[in-house]
Amino acid sequence: MSKVTVVGAGNVGATCANVLAVNEVANEVCLIDIKEGFAEGKAMDIMQTAQLMGFDTVVTGVTNDYSKTANSDVVIITSGMPRKPGMTREELIGINAGIVKSVANQVLTYSPNAILIIVSNPMDPMAYLALHALGLPRNRVIGMGGALDSARLKYFLSQAIGCNANDVEGFVIGGHGDTTMIPLVSYMTYKGIPVSNFLTQEQIDEVVKSTMVGGATLTGLLGTSAWMAPGAASASVAEAIIKDQKKMIPCAAALEGEYGMHDITIGVPCIIGKNGIEKVLELKLTEAEAARLKDSEAAVRKTTEILKGLNVL
Ligand code: 2OP
Repeated sequence: MSKVTVVGAGNVGATCANVLAVNEVANEVCLIDIKEGFAEGKAMDIMQTAQLMGFDTVVTGVTNDYSKTANSDVVIITSGMPRKPGMTREELIGINAGIVKSVANQVLTYSPNAILIIVSNPMDPMAYLALHALGLPRNRVIGMGGALDSARLKYFLSQAIGCNANDVEGFVIGGHGDTTMIPLVSYMTYKGIPVSNFLTQEQIDEVVKSTMVGGATLTGLLGTSAWMAPGAASASVAEAIIKDQKKMIPCAAALEGEYGMHDITIGVPCIIGKNGIEKVLELKLTEAEAARLKDSEAAVRKTTEILKGLNVL
């Protein structure tokens, strides 16, 4: 029996629970929220699609009662404020840090061995916070930003080439921020062929730019943060854990010397399996990509430093 808890039944949390159910990632999905009846309603709505979609996963909803989340294998934390148009993810740190810490504490009381997937923004510092405030080993705290940003990259890349999004490869490392994420041009391919065979430098630059502001563009269009891709990206990380897929997924991981970094949680390619982060892959980067990773590191460190002043670590 496998169980995934999704904390926060807002747009991202509910979409994530829906994807987990439709794809039958786990036997049970528990959706929990602080707003009375909200998670129950979202869970019931999802369950009323079970016969239509043909899935067997059982989705339950609960208000505040963490005992119902007990024995979860994976807990996905989406709680907190989403950004509004014109806001950066980093601006949410003051509001979301306390929420993420308290939620992580409560889930671990009932699921002491769970692997945590962090979605709340700013995602890299929130993953750092969960790891350090709760004293967890690095394999058990995963920031999902790279999975989302890489999916967005593949979308923009396929649009530029005019091909199927499943035929392109590419991934994003660095921070999950408009200026800190790094789509790795040197590893972008179409059916294994470098994309420079199909796109001009100008087109590639445009793909990179669109990816970096992918979240902000949607926030502008929707009036709030996006949820379809964030929900599906979080579910895909949970699936890799529950099914022990050993998939290579770019995620925020606590680095222990990889890429020359320590004491930071930032996006890098990871192997994700039943133990969470099972390995961090160290790739060769071009000089320009390595320089951008240095800048991204500095920016993520700066935001992470704010946690110290908030007394949450
Ligand atoms: C996004 O990029 C929610 O941070 C998330 O849409």
